[in-house]
Amino acid sequence: MKELSLNILDIAQNSVKARATCVKIEITEDADTLAFAITDNGCGMEKDFLANVTNPFTTTRKTRRVGLGLPFLKMEAEMTGGSFEITSKSEKEYEDHGTRVFASFNKNSIDFIPLGDIVDTICTLIHGSEDIDFEFSHKTEEKEITLSTAEMREMLGEDIPLSSPEVLAWVRDYLTELY
Ligand SMILES: Nc1ncnc2c1ncn2[C@@H]1O[C@H](COP(=O)(O)OP(=O)(O)OP(=O)(O)O)[C@@H](O)[C@H]1O
Ligand SMILES: [Mg+2]
Repeated sequence: MKELSLNILDIAQNSVKARATCVKIEITEDADTLAFAITDNGCGMEKDFLANVTNPFTTTRKTRRVGLGLPFLKMEAEMTGGSFEITSKSEKEYEDHGTRVFASFNKNSIDFIPLGDIVDTICTLIHGSEDIDFEFSHKTEEKEITLSTAEMREMLGEDIPLSSPEVLAWVRDYLTELY
């Protein structure tokens, strides 16, 4: 991907597809490292599936499709000297089911991809899934930017959908100003 914000969009869309009602996107950054974790309360994955999910060359494709979102992210993180981690609890086994994807990147590597337009990613997610609670935070050494759609929904009341153009424009301005 050209921008890490597109990886984040891709991974968060996995959470949406997994019927999550709450998706947390946490970015943390210091001088040398950028890391993000995406945590959801969706259906989760079973152990065997999880073990193969970052392998694009898995040969069980006849019975299930393995995409490229997770293998690419793992590769891109590791290419910079960073790391990748995925943990998941399937709804078939656990009451507290869900998935957490973590990736860290060495910012000094020539293979480091910039974060790009994260505001656009957040707006796209809200626009596409206005009923999901998205909790976004971006922590750097200087500041922390946060947005919670659950809080927004509470403030706006039930009559104003989060995906309305006015609300999305407000989110865009609010985040852009904080950056
Ligand atoms: N958060 C998640 N919760 C539950 N299952 C997940 C989650 N993320 C990924 N998966 C499972 O892992 C599979 C592979 O995910 P990946 O993002 O690599 O590819 P994909 O979503 O299938 O395809 P693509 O991202 O290329 O459109 C998914 O099809 C889904 O079955
Ligand atoms: Mg995907």
